[in-house]
Amino acid sequence: MLTKEQLEAVLRPIAEPVLGRSLIDLRWIRNMMIKEDKVSLTVISLKQDENTRNKLGEEIRFRLKEAGVDNVHLRFREPSEMERQEAGQAATTGEAEAEQAPRGHGAGLESLPILDPRSGVQFIAIASGKGGVGKSTVTVNLASALARLGKKVGLIDADIYGFSVPDMMGIETTPVIEDGAIQPVERFGVKVMSMGFFIQENTPVIWRGPMLGKMLRQFFADVNWGELDYMLLDLPPGTGDVALDVHQMIPQSREIIVTTPHATAAFVAARAGAMALKTEHEVLGVVENMAYYVCPDCDKKDYIFGRGGGARLAETLHTDLLAQIPLGIPDNHPSEPDFSPSVYKADSPIGRIYDEIAAAIEQKVHKD
Ligand SMILES: Nc1ncnc2c1ncn2[C@@H]1O[C@H](COP(=O)(O)OP(=O)(O)O)[C@@H](O)[C@H]1O
Ligand SMILES: [Mg+2]
Repeated sequence: MLTKEQLEAVLRPIAEPVLGRSLIDLRWIRNMMIKEDKVSLTVISLKQDENTRNKLGEEIRFRLKEAGVDNVHLRFREPSEMERQEAGQAATTGEAEAEQAPRGHGAGLESLPILDPRSGVQFIAIASGKGGVGKSTVTVNLASALARLGKKVGLIDADIYGFSVPDMMGIETTPVIEDGAIQPVERFGVKVMSMGFFIQENTPVIWRGPMLGKMLRQFFADVNWGELDYMLLDLPPGTGDVALDVHQMIPQSREIIVTTPHATAAFVAARAGAMALKTEHEVLGVVENMAYYVCPDCDKKDYIFGRGGGARLAETLHTDLLAQIPLGIPDNHPSEPDFSPSVYKADSPIGRIYDEIAAAIEQKVHKD
């Protein structure tokens, strides 16, 4: 199997069509993943017409084939504003390496210690087919429940369409820098980083996508997470480019898919599950949220959003239905110091369901 350095050497002669400079030196070949006989990577280019993509693709495939790699998966995208600027600076100094190296992010993501499988950190991405199904609610509550089990838990809010985790957990502070490292904000025993801490609310979504990759890299490189047992990621919903990039950035991540009980919602979630399987992420299970409403007077379960979506989805994905979570909001008050709009208390019925999910996850990740 070839190393990343060898592949970079093979691809170095390929130039970005507008700038005429090596894509490798520009660092415009991204997310390079090598898995057995398969290589996947993202190509950044100023020109994105079909002809340019075809030509670049052909050249890359040709060179990789010569190096013995037949199975190549390519994605193309335009540079972000920041990447354009960096390329401009690199062009004037003539030294892309020098531009990048001092910040220490020059190497691929895969060289970051936290992403090294030997770090022992269990990555779990929470995915959904669409927004509004409770993906963030499940993420913050599962993180809190794992912390209640005594686990050391990190949480990254990577949903560029709405960074809701700080608000949902009742976080009112922002990260500080200590000894040159960003300190995550701790809440309910969970260390939290959110793109929302750094991005203005009015930043258009089309800019957030390209920023996400950069920020994730920084979250893994420059944040003082300390020792962690779990890292949970609140992913962007759906199966778009951004979600796919994150999937591929963290190859060792396992996934939990959140759906509502409605058949259509489960069908849409199945696509997110299929993407997880395609990127070879193990699906730990399905959580069916808003599964039913418990009538407070008669204790009867009312399946107001339909029934069976979670179970069917789990079956489709050959995985387990981890839990069915009823409708209900956390019982607490803004005047309490541990107030949070979305985290259920440990001794509440829904809090106990999350404790059960956490225990099931513990078992699953340690079974092998
Ligand atoms: N089980 C539940 N019962 C009642 N409201 C819920 C439940 N799960 C989520 N919600 C609410 O539904 C809305 C969407 O949930 P959220 O977690 O933000 O979804 P997503 O991250 O998938 O967009 C939020 O207002 C949240 O408080
Ligand atoms: Mg959300």
